[in-house]
Amino acid sequence: MRELKIAPSILSADFSRLKDEIEAVEAAGADWLHVDVMDGHFVPNITIGPVVVEWVRKVTKIPLDVHLMITDPDKYAPEFIKVGANWISIHPDTCPNPNATLNKIRELGAKASIAVNPDVPVSKVESCFKNIDMILMMTVFPGFGGQAFIPDVLPKITEVRKLIDQRKSPILVEVDGGVKTDNIARIVNAGAEVIVSGSGIFKTPDYAQTIRGMRKAVGQA
Ligand code: DX5
Ligand code: ZN
Repeated sequence: MRELKIAPSILSADFSRLKDEIEAVEAAGADWLHVDVMDGHFVPNITIGPVVVEWVRKVTKIPLDVHLMITDPDKYAPEFIKVGANWISIHPDTCPNPNATLNKIRELGAKASIAVNPDVPVSKVESCFKNIDMILMMTVFPGFGGQAFIPDVLPKITEVRKLIDQRKSPILVEVDGGVKTDNIARIVNAGAEVIVSGSGIFKTPDYAQTIRGMRKAVGQA
């Protein structure tokens, strides 16, 4: 069985208490922290930049999974890596040459990932498989936390899992958007192993209970 990794998305945290929130999810059993970077151009929302990530890095040792929803990842990915990002996900339509961007991310010492929107077929990103450590399957359209999970993406997650297994590739499959305790089993059964959850964790009263519930739902508690 693939070991489940849970990555709470700080987008749904209380930013006035960000350090406490990070320490709380870490103590509750989070494996990674997911950091949503939005620039108001690629998506109609603005969140945080390298300055905040630099401070986040100082309060936790768990991997920082930085999801770039910005028009110019070639310019900014190196800055996020410099301040401590371990994983960088890019949306392929934001770079003229996604493979070059992914290579650069790896050269700079981070793990590279490609994000696939709900309406993008897997065939469109297959040419990037040789240059990625993870594939991020979006189960909402990027831009905001708290949106409803799009179940139509489930067969695509299975398709990606099959492709990766056929190639005997170590690429991780991450799912992001609308994941909660009550749907995580379907997502993991479809083939995911890294689970992002923002509102599904931060909007619940007891993070440890929620994360335990997620692991229990997939038989890993
Ligand atoms: C959406 C972001 C997600 C978001 C997930 O654009 O990429 O990471 O924070 O939040 P929930 O889990 O609330 O859908
Ligand atoms: Zn995200």
